[in-house]
Amino acid sequence: MGRSRCLGTGRPPPPELLLLLAFLLSWWAGLAPATPPTREKQEVVLAVVLPRNNTMYPWSWPRVGPALRRALARINADPALLPAHRLRYVFANSENEAGICSESVAPLVAVDLKFSHDPWAFVGPGCDYASSSVGLFTTHWGLPMVTAGAPAVGFSGTHVYDSITNTGPTHKKLGQFAVHLQRHFGWRDHALLMFCDNKVDDRPCYFATEGLYEGLIRENITTADLVLNEQAGPLPFDTFLQDIKHSGRVVYVCCAWDTFRDLMVHFRKEGLPQEEYVFFYIDVFGRSLVTQLPRPWAKGDANDSIAKEAFRSVKIVTYREPQNPEYKGFVSDLKADAKELFNFTVEDSLMNLISGGFYDGVMLYAQALNETLALSGGGVPPGKDITKRMWNRTYHGE
Ligand SMILES: *[C@@H]1O[C@H](CO)[C@@H](O)[C@H](O)[C@H]1NC(C)=O
Ligand SMILES: *[C@@H]1O[C@H](CO)[C@@H](O)[C@H](O)[C@H]1NC(C)=O
Ligand SMILES: *[C@@H]1O[C@H](CO)[C@@H](O)[C@H](O)[C@H]1NC(C)=O
Repeated sequence: MGRSRCLGTGRPPPPELLLLLAFLLSWWAGLAPATPPTREKQEVVLAVVLPRNNTMYPWSWPRVGPALRRALARINADPALLPAHRLRYVFANSENEAGICSESVAPLVAVDLKFSHDPWAFVGPGCDYASSSVGLFTTHWGLPMVTAGAPAVGFSGTHVYDSITNTGPTHKKLGQFAVHLQRHFGWRDHALLMFCDNKVDDRPCYFATEGLYEGLIRENITTADLVLNEQAGPLPFDTFLQDIKHSGRVVYVCCAWDTFRDLMVHFRKEGLPQEEYVFFYIDVFGRSLVTQLPRPWAKGDANDSIAKEAFRSVKIVTYREPQNPEYKGFVSDLKADAKELFNFTVEDSLMNLISGGFYDGVMLYAQALNETLALSGGGVPPGKDITKRMWNRTYHGE
């Protein structure tokens, strides 16, 4: 599967290897108050469209479901937040039969949910293509769409996606991080973007690289790119090395871990002056680290020692997990819930950033809805008004 090929399988990072991408997660601290006595409440339905089974996706239901349930329980138990309303969700799977995010299944199930449940807002999808097609509908319907996925740069600044509020880390931020890095070291040229793209699945490396590309181009940094098709037979490493020699000194690589290690072995064997090169391995959820620590270069084969030398030129780029104790407590609650509700063991805990983003997004929605209701004095307020309030919140503090 494309995603697993690209990102490998998903342990705590070694400090010397990481360049941490700062990520701000607004955090909702405090405890939920006791449930007030119930009167007749109006129901607010949230339509959730996410991959049901495939936990390779950071926004898959076994990962996000526990966070969403906690958010709803907290909102419904809070007498100050939406006192006359009660939130509940309906769920639909965005996967096709092969368990892959589908840009055709997602809008179909979204339409079904819309007409059978009359939701006030959508939660998800997370995959880029699925979010693109559902986002067009939610804009058309005038309904807010809340997601911590949909990281592609294409979602920002386009009015057709005006209904989307993104509370997760995006590839635009990844691009800004790369620009920051380049500026810091005064690197103006010879940036090379290498990425695997099998043109199936959700093309995670393609979209991540696009974020890097947009950032670097805007900064007028000369950039070349190179596509690795891991499914089209053996990769032509000799050609890659020629390309690196000619156009790359700062090389950003997004591909499967094994491919990257092969590339580094070839690089070292080529005998290029190693001090002139740096390789950033883009692995935002740190999946390689789960299996590769503490010796990322090691594979137990004859190339281990040469790989070790090559890895002196490697930095792994991941998101930075919030360090506050509230977040840690939240993550361990999510893990316990995932085990209990879905019999799913969360090992790649960096992905909880996404679950946290969904939690934040739903809390934000509830607040914005509460404020909009206070102003509109009843009825379902226009989605646009709610989204506007969420955006103000989302961007606050940036
Ligand atoms: C996905 O999970 C649901 C619930 O466990 C199950 O009913 C369904 O058969 C699964 N689908 C696939 C394709 O594995
Ligand atoms: C990039 O180049 C354009 C055209 O020469 C110039 O207008 C712009 O200010 C440059 N941007 C940066 C960030 O250097
Ligand atoms: C070591 O790397 C070379 C490429 O430089 C490759 O041809 C060879 O198969 C590798 N050996 C092992 C045991 O993987």
